[in-house]
Amino acid sequence: MLSLILHVVGARPNFMKAAPVIRALHARSVPQMLVHTGQHYDERMSDIFFRQLEMPRPDVNLEVGSGSHAVQTAEIMVRFERVVQEHQPGWVMVYGDVNSTVACALVAAKLGVRIAHVEAGLRSFDRSMPEEINRVLTDRISDLLFTPSEDGDANLLHEGIRADQIHRVGNCMIDTLVRLLGKAQDPRVPGLDGAYALVTLHRPSNVDEPHRLAEITAALDRLGQRIRVVFPIHPRTRKRMADSGLQPANPARVVLIEPQGYLEFLWLQQHARFILTDSGGIQEEATYLGVPCLTMRENTERPITCTTGTNILVGQDMDRVREQADRILDGHGKTGRIPPLWDGKAGERIAEVMVGLESGTTDYADGRG
Ligand code: UD1
Repeated sequence: MLSLILHVVGARPNFMKAAPVIRALHARSVPQMLVHTGQHYDERMSDIFFRQLEMPRPDVNLEVGSGSHAVQTAEIMVRFERVVQEHQPGWVMVYGDVNSTVACALVAAKLGVRIAHVEAGLRSFDRSMPEEINRVLTDRISDLLFTPSEDGDANLLHEGIRADQIHRVGNCMIDTLVRLLGKAQDPRVPGLDGAYALVTLHRPSNVDEPHRLAEITAALDRLGQRIRVVFPIHPRTRKRMADSGLQPANPARVVLIEPQGYLEFLWLQQHARFILTDSGGIQEEATYLGVPCLTMRENTERPITCTTGTNILVGQDMDRVREQADRILDGHGKTGRIPPLWDGKAGERIAEVMVGLESGTTDYADGRG
């Protein structure tokens, strides 16, 4: 029997990636435990996803909460070390690129526990982004690396990761989307009828600097004159706006709403004329749904969303945002295709690889001496 797999989730984007892997391993009776670090803790940033994604309740919640990067990462490490020592897993499975991912990978590596990284190999090549540091470090110390697309394999090979450690399995987050698309739920945003643009912004590079946030708020006001804007607002962004006394000039045209559940946000994405975001995962969901996406970043760790999908990087240039938004609203939005292996079966492929490790069918040479 395969030894215990200990999954780690911590922040909102982890949940939709872990859910399909846990389901697929459960179907194969693989022993597993779920640890929630508590990096995200609000009902709307965490609990609602467990219910809607039908995930098991976490076996352990480390309840670390918010803090500076050092405080949050260190606190997760201290608390997670005890859990690993107590339960002695054969594998620690980490997801994506948040602080919880790198913190728990580091703990596992130091305790000599094997690490599997889901969504490995993505690179923005921008080390000013905390997530890029998390990605590079996690991949470096992982034993098995599950990539969503070919660029991930190429990046890892280039960094000296052995080919037998890399498995291109496709996109786990899209597994969840495929499974739940039919259950997407209209959140019935008051006053929302007809066309709208969906906005999400939470990255420090966009929201932490008051001058930049003021520019963005003004740009949303201008956009709101042409199309209604729906903006489910991340707690970090809400706090920064409040600190700077910023709010939309016309709240009926730029509608701020609470962070949405998975099913409600899916509905909002599916029906939007376009999406304006700085998120990583939303670029991919928009590509799958065929909805034009403008990404307010200078680079992306998910280039396939631009080369194959509907995504366009507009950077921090508000004139570009306006120009591209106009193009879409004039009927010239970017179309795209769904990348290979984004087919709803990535979790199954991961489970097959893990089970194959025990039966010897997975080609993997343990490099530990
Ligand atoms: C984190 C991830 C980011 C991901 C995002 C998705 C890192 C480095 N960043 O960013 O990659 O895109 O999650 O949402 O791990 N807060 C609450 N309630 C919560 C969680 C956070 O109010 O449940 C507020 C707190 O003020 C906190 C701030 O949001 O200080 C930032 O939270 P944090 O987890 O540090 O980073 P995110 O910006 O959410």
